[in-house]
Amino acid sequence: MGFFSSSAFANVPPPPVNEQVELTKIHDADPYEQKVNLTTEEYKDRNGDLWVLPVVRQTELELIMDTSLTHGKSRMWGNGEFIEAAQDMLFGTPSAELRSKVASIQTVSGTGACHIGAKLLCDSLTPNTIWMSDLSHTNHDAVWDFIGGVEKRTYPYSLPDRSGVDFNGMINALKTRARRNDVIYLHSCAHSSSGLDLTLEQWVELGKVCQEIGIFPFFDSAYQGFASGDPDADVWAIRCFMELGLEVCVAQSFSRGFGLSGERVGCLHVVLNSSAHRQAVFDRLYHYQRGLTSTPPTYGANIVSTILTSESLYRAWRIDLKSMTDRIQKLRLGLYNELIKRRVPGSWEYLLIQRGMFAHTNLSKQQVELLRTEYHIYIMSTGRISLPALNAQNIEWVAGAINEVVTRFSLEEKANL
Ligand SMILES: Cc1ncc(COP(=O)(O)O)c(C=O)c1O
Repeated sequence: MGFFSSSAFANVPPPPVNEQVELTKIHDADPYEQKVNLTTEEYKDRNGDLWVLPVVRQTELELIMDTSLTHGKSRMWGNGEFIEAAQDMLFGTPSAELRSKVASIQTVSGTGACHIGAKLLCDSLTPNTIWMSDLSHTNHDAVWDFIGGVEKRTYPYSLPDRSGVDFNGMINALKTRARRNDVIYLHSCAHSSSGLDLTLEQWVELGKVCQEIGIFPFFDSAYQGFASGDPDADVWAIRCFMELGLEVCVAQSFSRGFGLSGERVGCLHVVLNSSAHRQAVFDRLYHYQRGLTSTPPTYGANIVSTILTSESLYRAWRIDLKSMTDRIQKLRLGLYNELIKRRVPGSWEYLLIQRGMFAHTNLSKQQVELLRTEYHIYIMSTGRISLPALNAQNIEWVAGAINEVVTRFSLEEKANL
């Protein structure tokens, strides 16, 4: 048989299942009227629609009238004004000295930044292991699969009862198993998907452990502003590591904060401990960009840089951001109150300490399955709920269904005693 008589792809292995995509497909095909999709990762408004931030709409109208803007491509490293504004947002208008130590490149959103950062770290450090929290954003896993050749391991993140971060477990895992030049992914705020963040003291301690062992910190900043409502307060972890003298990578996404996930707006920043190697690192980033996507997309970056560099638009953005975070917080409290009102078995206090887009319900896989098959409520098998997908029309239905499912399981447990 000749080489081409059977397909070259006959043995292509299937990829890992993307649960969120699969559940959304089943949800969309479900004819049930009261169905609810709580798996979504994008911000939905009170009508269940994707929200275009008013400040983004206003900026788009301004940009459309600007005849100097074209549809030509940007430089290979991206839009310089956007990159500077993105640095300001993360580092709080850095001094000229700090700027001289940061190599930044515009990327295809946060995922593109994770990718180029992973390639840089892989080539520069040849790490044995990439460490990720045991519950995390699944793209991290996929990015390192794509890069290949680096062992992926998880560190414990949330306590089994979700009452807080398993900080001791995390530190122990790193101290006993991590090695020099390993890389660790850290969510700078509003950890996706547990909603639990380290305290300031814990960040300092973790930074010192990274320093002692020689683990390279790679921050994922996908939700700046979503933890506290204040983007300046939400970058504490990154700034704390920098103050300790650590070099860091930051993958910065504008998908959530500006509601621009379809426009793929992101930036990768590599913060070095001196300016000596900045140009060499920048040249590497430039080279990777060339091989990966050539130039990054321009439209969303124009919107973001226009907003971040205008005093009035920036103020308007802060109001829009606050309206998203306030609504999410109200929904978190609303869900908690609905569960308490119904006396759902178990303690639900942990929901109130979580922050960001998601609520981690701690429902078991079987309970989640029952919610889907009997109540047409779609939740990730980890128990994660996207809070903005709740609204006045569905919150009671969801809380009622959780009550029935949890009660049924606790009665079954008692019967089996
Ligand atoms: C933790 C985390 N990191 C990164 C991303 C990447 O998003 P994007 O590629 O749209 O910027 C997401 C999106 O859901 C996320 O939750």
